[in-house]
Order: sequence, then structure tokens, then C-alpha cells
Amino acid sequence: MGYFRKNIEKVKGYEPGFQPKETDVVKLNTNENPYPPSPAVLKVLTEISPERLRRYPDPLGNEFRQAAAEVNSVGPENIMCCNGGDDLLTIAFRAFCDENRPVAYPIPTYSLYPVLADVQNCPVLEVPFDDEFNLPAKLAGTNAALTIVCNPNAPTGSFISVNELASLADEISGVLLIDEAYVDFSEQNCNGLVKDFDNVIILRSMSKGYSLAGMRFGYAIARPELITGLMKVKDSYNVDVVAIEAATAAIKDRKYFKENVEKVKAERTRLTEQLRNLGFDVPDSFSNFVLAQCKNGGAADVYEKLTGRNIYVRYFSYPRLEDKLRITVGMPEQDDKLLAALKDILATEPSQL
Ligand SMILES: Cc1ncc(COP(=O)(O)O)c(C=O)c1O
Repeated sequence: MGYFRKNIEKVKGYEPGFQPKETDVVKLNTNENPYPPSPAVLKVLTEISPERLRRYPDPLGNEFRQAAAEVNSVGPENIMCCNGGDDLLTIAFRAFCDENRPVAYPIPTYSLYPVLADVQNCPVLEVPFDDEFNLPAKLAGTNAALTIVCNPNAPTGSFISVNELASLADEISGVLLIDEAYVDFSEQNCNGLVKDFDNVIILRSMSKGYSLAGMRFGYAIARPELITGLMKVKDSYNVDVVAIEAATAAIKDRKYFKENVEKVKAERTRLTEQLRNLGFDVPDSFSNFVLAQCKNGGAADVYEKLTGRNIYVRYFSYPRLEDKLRITVGMPEQDDKLLAALKDILATEPSQL
């Protein structure tokens, strides 16, 4: 007998995007915000007292819950702090899924979901998106214990309307987790659904819109009954004292947040247009990345050539993604380096597009 549970031995594990050690590279592969966090965060980090570090943190992170509640027009009882959005996903799989309680989600989507399902050993019901990435009607009929919709979706950047997700929440008997890790770059979000539905959980991340990927902080928005249930599953101290204070400072600095998001959105428009000018097929994105299709299928090769020039983007060798590159929206000067490299690569081998 092996040491591990049978399903763990089979799990391939999540493959995170490459994190190069060098700093003089163009890193557009893991959807980080190119701008630094709010100065208010840096102040917290430099001023944190040894006494705060000596003690355990508030297990519920109430300071953050209060601040996030105000931003999202809900109550603190509707918020649960998490060690990044991924922590909430792990908690949700543990809380709702087992061998007899499946998870369902549309594909292609965030590649962590099947990994967590395998770890939890629950059946997976994957429902393909159509070519326009509309919400598949079949998703409502899966009878899954947990249905996840990533909105805006990763890695497509597509967006499903709040009304459609409200209908889905109404139709299904299980929980609907709406993964809004990238919603800060969209025009709408689903937090209003929490008032109307007792089966909706919204995932938020501080990694993207608030430039805190290294800090690890996210949160759930849901009805208090769901929050109380999820809290039974989380680690008792799942967020640390520095992260609680830093995330609170970040979410309170509305001006800085809004300015950064607007900069990223403006650059997303420019990057999309420039990539289209080079001949890539790029659907409109509601996120902080774009998905560029090489119509002749040369994406893997272009990816290798970019990597060789220290320009990192993301390539997924999965069905429907193997002809595409996911490119994080960077600062204009980073994106210009990417665009110049692509121009150069395509000038020598135009057939790759
Ligand atoms: C779709 C999606 N959901 C959730 C997350 C989790 O983000 P974090 O754990 O950094 O908050 C990510 C991270 O890249 C993501 O892409």
C-alpha cells in the first residue's frame, strides 16, 4: 500500500505559471498587476509592531471584513477572509464535494478546478462553452453539489451577464460559486446576487486589482449561513496579521485602486488593438489579460521564441487553447517590448500566425 490516498497518487498537481528569478524580464504570464500596491500598504508593512506579530491574528480578520463589506454594500457577516482566492476554492471543495457530490463548471476555464476535484476525489462534470463562450444551458441540469463559473472567465477574458448567472443560481439545487478573481477589470459584478440567493458564493482576490499577489489575500461574499458553514472548514488562522492589515489598507484606498484599474483597462484596449494589427485574433477582454489566437496554430512556437527573448506569456496545451497565447496586460513599455518581439518573430516566420 502506498502512503497516499489512491486519488492523490493520480493527481498531476496544478502547474503554476513560471516565476523567473531575474527581474530584467518582461513578465506577462501570471496576470499580476504591473503597478505596485497602494502606498498605504507599504506604510502598514513598515509600521507593523512586534507585539502584533507576537500574537495570533484575529481568526476572522474582522477589520478587513468591515472594510470589504462597505466597498461591496453588504454586511461584515457576509464576508469571509481567505489566504488568496485559491484558499476559498479549496475550502469550497472540502465543504461541498465528495465521492457522491460532483462539481460542475464550463470549460475551458481556470485549470485549478480539476486539480482540487481530484484531491477531493469528487466527480467532475465539465460542460464546454460554445465558440463565443456563452454560458452553456446544460450547466443548469448537472445536479452538481458545487457549480463554479469563473466570471470574467480565465483564460478567455469573456464575461457572462449578471442576469444569466442569477437565472443559473435560481435553476440549480446546489451552490453556485462565482469566481470573480478578475472582476475589478469588468464593468459589473455579481455581489447583488447574494441578497437574492442563498446558494451563491462570490470569490474575490486581492492579487489582481489591488496588486497584492505576493501577500495572498482574498475573500468570499455570501449569505451569513453559507459564511458560517465555510468558516467551519477553513484553517483557524487562515490569514495572517500582516496580510489582514495590508489588505484592509489596500481595499480602503479607493482612489489609488480606481486609478490603477483605469490604467490597466486603457492599456488593455491598446494592447488588443496592436495585437489585432499584427494579425492575431483577440476577443474583447473583461479582465487584465487578453487571449490572442494564432490562426495558423503557431502559438507554441511563438511562445518558445518569446521565452527565448526573456518575454514570458502563458501557453496552455489544452483543447481549444493550444492555438492561443494568454498575455497579461503590462505597463505600456513592457507591452511595447512584447509587440516589438512579436513583430520581429512574425517578420521572419509569418506563417506562424
Ligand atoms: C480564475 C482565478 N481564480 C482564482 C485565482 C486565485 O487568486 P489568488 O489565490 O491569487 O487570490 C486565480 C489566480 O490566478 C484565478 O486565475
